[in-house]
Amino acid sequence: MKHLGVLTSGGDAPGMNAAIRAVTREAMARGVRVTGISHGYAGVLAWKAVELTARTVGGIIHHGGTILGSARSQRFSLDAGLEEAVRNLSAHEIEGLVVIGGNGSQTGAACLSGKGYPVVGVASTIDNDLCGTEIAIGVDTALNAAMEAIDRLRVTASSHRKVSLVEVMGRNCGYLALMAGLAGGAETVVIPEVKVDPADVMARLKDAFERGKEYAIAVVAEGAEYNGIKLEKYLQNLTHKVGLEVRLTTLGHIQRGGTPGAFDRILGSELGSHAAGRLIEGECGILVGWTAGKVSTVPLSEVAGRTKIPDVKVLELIHRLAQ
Ligand code: F6P
Repeated sequence: MKHLGVLTSGGDAPGMNAAIRAVTREAMARGVRVTGISHGYAGVLAWKAVELTARTVGGIIHHGGTILGSARSQRFSLDAGLEEAVRNLSAHEIEGLVVIGGNGSQTGAACLSGKGYPVVGVASTIDNDLCGTEIAIGVDTALNAAMEAIDRLRVTASSHRKVSLVEVMGRNCGYLALMAGLAGGAETVVIPEVKVDPADVMARLKDAFERGKEYAIAVVAEGAEYNGIKLEKYLQNLTHKVGLEVRLTTLGHIQRGGTPGAFDRILGSELGSHAAGRLIEGECGILVGWTAGKVSTVPLSEVAGRTKIPDVKVLELIHRLAQ
């Protein structure tokens, strides 16, 4: 292989730049040219690309987001889009592609691979909902951002004897909410994977004050049936009756931005370098992830269209420790 392409797709995640840098420098160390494709699969179709060199990926390891830009492309999921993508990549003499992204992106990578084009995926999503890897680039930094926000909210909630409701990201997966709740010492957590009665949430919060606490924190995943807005509305009426106040804070993209922590820079470097190496050596159709403390790989076909379920037993632990 003489020339490979790299793109970032889906929601940006802190550590993606470390992965772009690693893909580029690993390839260059092996004498392979690298083209960076802008704005994910949309850039493959509209052909927006730049040559990457050791210098153009310099000074980016500590930056959040992605220097290549990212996007979600509907057209790419169609057969015609996939065929056009293969034509464009081949016309620019790109012999293989590294796709850095999460669930939707790796499903796209599996489809491209199904068309016979050499692709290697790199696990990257703050949601940690990708099958075939224990953790993905961006999870740790996003989790720390959520935890820090909870710590700050606890300070003000305790000054005013308030209930703080914190909505974290995770469209289809409660991992971030669960782990932020555990790390932030929440009373309870509401996630899409576990059906919850809002009356039970209210009971837990009220009980916390009755046990002498000066504040109570509930973490909610944006994808839960009772998301932040719905739960706040439900709780507001009841908390007023018992002399408490509830306040919702939606963290949103605050979790995705920011400087990648050490773990995500290390993960980006390890996975990016490994992905480029495997692709150049002729292996493709795989997702490169991190399992049991080291780089791991699974076929993209085992990842496509699936969502990883977090360990919901963590919820019991959160409740036990919230005494
Ligand atoms: O997949 C990452 C993620 O941040 C999800 O947690 C969230 O639901 C989604 O992306 C939001 O996407 P967008 O920023 O495009 O609205």
